[in-house]
Amino acid sequence: MGNMKLTLKIWRQADAKAKGAMVDYQVSDISEDMSFLEMLDVLNDRLVREGQEPIAFDHDCREGICGACSLFIDGRPHGPSRHITTCQLHMRKFKDGDVIHVEPWRAGAFPVIKDLVVDRGAFDRIQAAGGFVSVNTMGNLVDANAQPIPKLDSDKAFDAAACIGCGACVAACPNSSAMLFVAAKVSQYALLPQGRPEAKTRALNMVEQMDTEGFGNCTNIGACEIECPKDISLENIARLNREYLGAELSKE
Ligand code: SF4
Ligand code: FES
Repeated sequence: MGNMKLTLKIWRQADAKAKGAMVDYQVSDISEDMSFLEMLDVLNDRLVREGQEPIAFDHDCREGICGACSLFIDGRPHGPSRHITTCQLHMRKFKDGDVIHVEPWRAGAFPVIKDLVVDRGAFDRIQAAGGFVSVNTMGNLVDANAQPIPKLDSDKAFDAAACIGCGACVAACPNSSAMLFVAAKVSQYALLPQGRPEAKTRALNMVEQMDTEGFGNCTNIGACEIECPKDISLENIARLNREYLGAELSKE
């Protein structure tokens, strides 16, 4: 058992249409070894015991892989530490007596479903618009490793592929731009020979879907890179711009 006492100010919103408001909660006996989500579990257990509605928040893997745990903590996506997700944030980052504000991602393209849970279906639709490589699986398959790829290219593609689709980049951006996410997904394939045949349609279709979903424009503020738990570099946005412009210019 720990001994931290905290005041939590948490966004409660019954459903997508409800107005929503910050509600105060006191929690005690919080151990510094708990993760932020475990601390919320302690509060929810108590709320359930008291016959109250528990706080809805998204989570799945609890080890920094799935990107579900999208919480805006004290004004920052995933809280005060860099390069981690909320599920990797530990309570030792806070002090006894702290007041902590917890909100959902704020972006028009990520509507709140309930309390701290937002709908990130827009990311799925962008991905479906071009974030794949088409492969004919009817015989004549070539082993992916049969094609030599320069180490630098494969490293950069791997770094881009580390994006977990959490949406922190959108939440951090004053324009609610999704450029870092789309740039990571486009770069992952643009850097590999297997991704080149569909590179043009991929860049055009994913950017078009991004605009359709209502994400804002990128004005090179850079907050996305700072708040990204997977350290996705702005270099990818430059690559997306090159890919997109090249595809636009060669349109028939
Ligand atoms: S680019 Fe970073 S912040 Fe944006 S969705 Fe991917 S992992 Fe999350
Ligand atoms: S719960 Fe999966 S990344 Fe946090």
